[in-house]
Amino acid sequence: MTAATFPENFLWGGAVAANQVEGAYREGGKGLSTADVLPPASARFKLLFHGKGEIPQIEPGTFYPSHEGIDFYHRYKEDIALFAEMGFKVFRTSVAWTRIFPNGDDEAPNEEGLKFYDNVIDELLKHGIEPLLTISHFDMPLALLENYGGWRNRELVKLYERYARTLFERYKGKVKYWITFNEINMLAHIPFISGGIVIAEGENKAQAVYQSAHHQFLASALAVKAARELRPEAMIGCMVAGGATYPLTSKPEDSLEAMEHDRITQLFTDVMVKGSYPYYAADFFRKKNVQLQTEPEDAELLRRYTVDFISFSYYTSTAVSSDPEHPDKASGNLFGGVVNPYLKASDWGWQIDPLGLRYALHQLYERYGKPLFIVENGLGASDVLEPGDVVNDDYRIDYLNRHLAEARKAIEEGVELIGYTSWGCIDLISASTGEMKKRYGYIYVDRDNDGSGSLRRVRKKSFHWYKQVIATNGASLSEE
Ligand code: BG6
Repeated sequence: MTAATFPENFLWGGAVAANQVEGAYREGGKGLSTADVLPPASARFKLLFHGKGEIPQIEPGTFYPSHEGIDFYHRYKEDIALFAEMGFKVFRTSVAWTRIFPNGDDEAPNEEGLKFYDNVIDELLKHGIEPLLTISHFDMPLALLENYGGWRNRELVKLYERYARTLFERYKGKVKYWITFNEINMLAHIPFISGGIVIAEGENKAQAVYQSAHHQFLASALAVKAARELRPEAMIGCMVAGGATYPLTSKPEDSLEAMEHDRITQLFTDVMVKGSYPYYAADFFRKKNVQLQTEPEDAELLRRYTVDFISFSYYTSTAVSSDPEHPDKASGNLFGGVVNPYLKASDWGWQIDPLGLRYALHQLYERYGKPLFIVENGLGASDVLEPGDVVNDDYRIDYLNRHLAEARKAIEEGVELIGYTSWGCIDLISASTGEMKKRYGYIYVDRDNDGSGSLRRVRKKSFHWYKQVIATNGASLSEE
């Protein structure tokens, strides 16, 4: 590796998730998922944090952009050809659980769903693109929530294990990289969207969240076990919403607050990477009045079947204050926190902090010493399609360039980073807003919030920029 390039075989690519691109929400035998019932716009944002105390239902008369997505279900060939044109080495997407087991507990998997992913995987391989599959990305069969109470119920562990085994068996020899749960730590912040957890009014939220998390840890460990048996060369990763946390001031109380903030994410990564709960967990649970229901075999399972790599998303950093009344809450940050006066923010209030990415990479590598994979990073913006099919997204190029330059520095400083898949490499439905308007792609999709537009794909300026970055293995990135 020269100073200016990334390691040989670095996995350059892009990422999406089934429920944000596929559409075809009732085609091919697919069952309803928790993502399908999430309302768009402000109703969704409210639900993210507060929930409704009951399972949301599809509201007649409301348009759900995610039900049609960007029609990747029917247009995957065209989209994959564009990814190949950019030179992708890897493409991250998720499998919709409801395409494989429409109700989650069906006796046999749905062949049409399995076949769809056969086709997608084969198309990727045809272009020399390595698939990276997330087994569960912010969606699960709605029936599992209605009939079992979702992840609170230990039965889900077995059902997920069967689902994961079905995937490993079917795609054996074709898919090497897997992620068990997308942003598993977001259970603690946005429990419904992340894990389909409905919190009843007056209920102890922490009890529901950490019991569900324990079940997901077991499910993930059993998936690792299954992969080792069926396909020893597979690489299984955990995935967390990452970021750097800063105390807002040098006041000691702010530093303690920052430490506690980090510990929420570290609890998740410690279990999945080190194989046990961190030393502070008992006290953390006591203070939150959480009583975990566990079985004697759990500790050994978690200890034996840890992940091979750590993947994470990075969009922003978080500044925290020990003052609960601090007036400048960071509006767009799903982690909470307050406004960092040294940083600018995106149109959605996500503060932009490339240095924080380098900081986060070091923090993770220092704590775990495992290969790291940035599987989401990018800038959500309302792009404009100009006459002549031009999208001048220089702001996105600037954002990505600055983040990648910091990632390159982290590598030079010794961090083992194996890949980078920028988020929403093609425009898709935003997870937090349920709308098209917040775009991340190198490829513009002609579609609006109300469903108008031809779904035509258009290469943005950043498309050509990223193609060059990949072709030069990062040498074309500018330092500033
Ligand atoms: C991550 C999720 O939280 O952030 C993605 O894994 C999501 O599903 C991405 O789309 C960006 O968030 P948003 O709300 O801008 O779509």
